[in-house]
Amino acid sequence: MNDMTYILAIESSCDDTSAAVLRDGVLLSNVTASQAVHEMYGGVVPELASRAHQQNIVPVVNAALKKANITKERLSAIAVTLGPGLMGSLLVGVSFAKGLATSLGIPLIEANHLQGHILAHFIHAEDEEHADPPYPFLCLLVSGGNSQIVKVNAYNSFEILGQTIDDAAGEAIDKCSKVMGLGYPGGPIIDRLARQGNPKAFSFSKPNISGLDYSFSGLKTSFLYFLRDHVAENANFIEENKNDLAASLEATIVDILMKKLKMAVKETGIKHVALSGGVSANTALRQAFMNMEKAGQWKIYIPKFSYTTDNAAMIGITGYYKFLDKEFCPMDKPAYSRTII
Ligand code: KG4
Repeated sequence: MNDMTYILAIESSCDDTSAAVLRDGVLLSNVTASQAVHEMYGGVVPELASRAHQQNIVPVVNAALKKANITKERLSAIAVTLGPGLMGSLLVGVSFAKGLATSLGIPLIEANHLQGHILAHFIHAEDEEHADPPYPFLCLLVSGGNSQIVKVNAYNSFEILGQTIDDAAGEAIDKCSKVMGLGYPGGPIIDRLARQGNPKAFSFSKPNISGLDYSFSGLKTSFLYFLRDHVAENANFIEENKNDLAASLEATIVDILMKKLKMAVKETGIKHVALSGGVSANTALRQAFMNMEKAGQWKIYIPKFSYTTDNAAMIGITGYYKFLDKEFCPMDKPAYSRTII
């Protein structure tokens, strides 16, 4: 008899095919295949992403089961990202999860990708010791598709206090990196260059919108015009200044993110503050969080790098909590491309 809970989690919402296995909520494996095919296009090409997921899904799931040292017959349930994301990408993971759950006669659990990013703070592998944020806490969720300040009341109760009204922070970084002629995704490249640059070398426009919402499209346009004007005078401007450009862009984005987050802390009085999503890998943003903790202002929660970008471990921990609450997903529930948590 299988008295332990084994959950297989699958994430395929964008361009990473990922599978994880958890035993009683403890992470045993987390295997991700990234898709290099998009680099030459400067962004994710949805059709190519779906095809790559098709190729990757079986080997990635097999590798996750093997690393966890279990066979699929021992699984108690399968958790899968139902949305939001690219529909063609989601369909690969969702169809696979439904097929496998049906054939094994075990429940399917739906996970929301954004909920997963937030619950990444609760992932524990066997040898990982860290404090979980206590409820309620604030979470700055910053990725390629989202920039939100979320009040997290419980694993399944969220209030969006503020969010971007146009581009996401990661999207802005990626687009600015593209106009500089750097590779894709731009975030890690800008981060690397910024470490050698002066964050005060250049200044770019910051949004002036009320409340806790964000806006990044003005910054993107100001960056574009700034480069266009300087390149007209000096064709080598970008190459000669790329470190300072990256550092100044990064500093502007971090300032914008932190300003509203500080306002949210002030308004709610909640001082436990977490950082989630792909952009949370950013060195300057992590440093800004650490500075707030050092100054005695906040207690901060920053996930391991491997749990910041898209991964199935975060879907697994979401699935585990839902499993405990017996919150299962009907097999005819479709994937969805857009939603908020
Ligand atoms: O969460 P994620 O992997 O995918 C989405 O769900 O969007 O986030 C990807 C985003 C991309 O925009 C990428 O450029 C950005 O996260 N990113 C970074 C860094 N690493 C990834 N941005 C800034 N600094 C980084 N080190």
